[in-house]
Amino acid sequence: MKTIDLREKFLDFFKENSHAIIPSAPIVPENDPTCLFNTAGMQPLVPYLKGEKHPAGTRLADVQKCVRLTDLDEVGDKTHHTFFEMLGNWSLGDYFKEEAIKYSFDFLTKKLEIPIERLAITVFKGNNLVPQDSQSASIWMKLGIPEERIAYLGEDSNWWPNIENLGPCGPDTEIFYFRSNEEIPKKFDPEDDRWVEIWNNVFMQYNHEENGTFTNLKNKNVDTGMGLERVVAILEGVTDNYKSSLWKEIIEEIEKLSNLPYEGNEEAMRIVADHIRTSVFIAGDNAGIKPSNTDQGYILRRLIRRAIRYARKLNIDLNSEWETSLAKIVIDKYKNIYNELEKNEQVILQVLKDEKNRFSKTLEKGLKEFEKLVQASDETVIDKDVAFKLYDTYGFPIELTIELAKEQNKTVDVQGFNEKFKEHQEKSRAGSVQKFKGGLASNSEMNIKYHTATHLLNAALKIVIGPNVHQKGSNITEERMRFDFPCDHKMTPEEIKQTEDLVNKWIADAIPVTKKEMSKEEALKIGAEAMFIEKYGDIVTVYFIGDISKELCGGPHVTNTNQLGTFKIKKEEASSSGIRRIKAVLI
Ligand code: ALA
Repeated sequence: MKTIDLREKFLDFFKENSHAIIPSAPIVPENDPTCLFNTAGMQPLVPYLKGEKHPAGTRLADVQKCVRLTDLDEVGDKTHHTFFEMLGNWSLGDYFKEEAIKYSFDFLTKKLEIPIERLAITVFKGNNLVPQDSQSASIWMKLGIPEERIAYLGEDSNWWPNIENLGPCGPDTEIFYFRSNEEIPKKFDPEDDRWVEIWNNVFMQYNHEENGTFTNLKNKNVDTGMGLERVVAILEGVTDNYKSSLWKEIIEEIEKLSNLPYEGNEEAMRIVADHIRTSVFIAGDNAGIKPSNTDQGYILRRLIRRAIRYARKLNIDLNSEWETSLAKIVIDKYKNIYNELEKNEQVILQVLKDEKNRFSKTLEKGLKEFEKLVQASDETVIDKDVAFKLYDTYGFPIELTIELAKEQNKTVDVQGFNEKFKEHQEKSRAGSVQKFKGGLASNSEMNIKYHTATHLLNAALKIVIGPNVHQKGSNITEERMRFDFPCDHKMTPEEIKQTEDLVNKWIADAIPVTKKEMSKEEALKIGAEAMFIEKYGDIVTVYFIGDISKELCGGPHVTNTNQLGTFKIKKEEASSSGIRRIKAVLI
């Protein structure tokens, strides 16, 4: 079976069952300060899970590009990846447990023809808030899953996302597959790692509020997620994901470049393959991410640099065009599904090449320095000054130093490094790490205000700078908004003042913010602004701020501009070549 069949089979199945198929959102979320990347199919759908009406209806399905970095250190084994595609279906207050479980069961056993003997199930065993989910268990049993193949687990395993995460959440039921040729045990033991999780059905009916309470969402929703790479490997009968058709050409190219066989070099080859694939997707996102020392750019840098180090371990000639040939294979493999990769091919190749050129020069010297300063010393903790020198002079991300240290059974004074890092007035790298932990969009009151202010700023800049201004990137926290846009000069103080005055005038004018659903064509015809056109399905929501602004957008927004307070630009600076960045606040 080919990969493409699984995507198609999944979407066709849900289409047959009256689901609207929506396109994958970009991997870099818009206007979501709490996360650098989409980590699950539900993430771009948070406003709708919270009760906003989705223009495509109450039954949705898609294949979402995701980047998850929590498992980055585990990449190198058979099953972990930093990029993956999540197959998902949703009910927004439409069907619930009975139908959701039946859909999963039918898809797996009828469409994919997975034998029922190979399946096992976990359900939620209950906590203070929610009782044991016997209902799901009995639905599974009715469908033919034997009782001994159902395990009841607590909130550590069967609550999504983690119980601490804010936002929409709920208990879940997970489906496992017996991935081994050995005899299948009668009783399911979730600790036995021959059973691998393949699909998760979350019954998303609560919202974890900032004050710690769990309130009922407007609707009882279903959110599901199934990992494409894992299921493809299962269907193709391989126990190493990297041996599936998804990775075949990439691994073969690495074998060619290194002149080494996969067998015996699995770890390094998997890391190079995984990190290059993820870097292609990050650099290929329309948000225009470039390697840098903060946020998504820092992750991109880390991934490329780690791939370079492992390519070196495989004796790949770093001065050759190895990264280009690998990236081209990835682009070719995915461009029909994710068109932006084709459109941004030149940018992707340039980003990888530039970063390789930058780092391969210093990597060699840095490794020598590491040997001199660390390997030769008896100290078991690497001093902050050494770690900082490796970072500052040789471009070693701190994670690389930690990894190198681990290989020598040593640790790094990370806290000391971070203090030193701050002293040097660098933007905090720790900030990015925090964001991964943060989880889902907060959609707090302040967040919503900044979101609306972003539309006003976009409109004001079109008047002050010119009609070609558009949003290249945006990031909102509780304290400020950030907006990137194309502009060939530093804004003058007059331009900054005019922009502020315009936004504040529109706020004072108390303009209602309204929204309308329409076809994509109609939206484009009326000139609605769309940053990520690929993100939207055929029916879209357009937000109007009087006749000042019209943008395709998922919301949410305030209902009137008079709720925003006073708008003030705090900083205007270069973001990258030809792109300016504004930081602004509402006071
Ligand atoms: N959102 C759920 C997950 O990622 C389905 O597992």
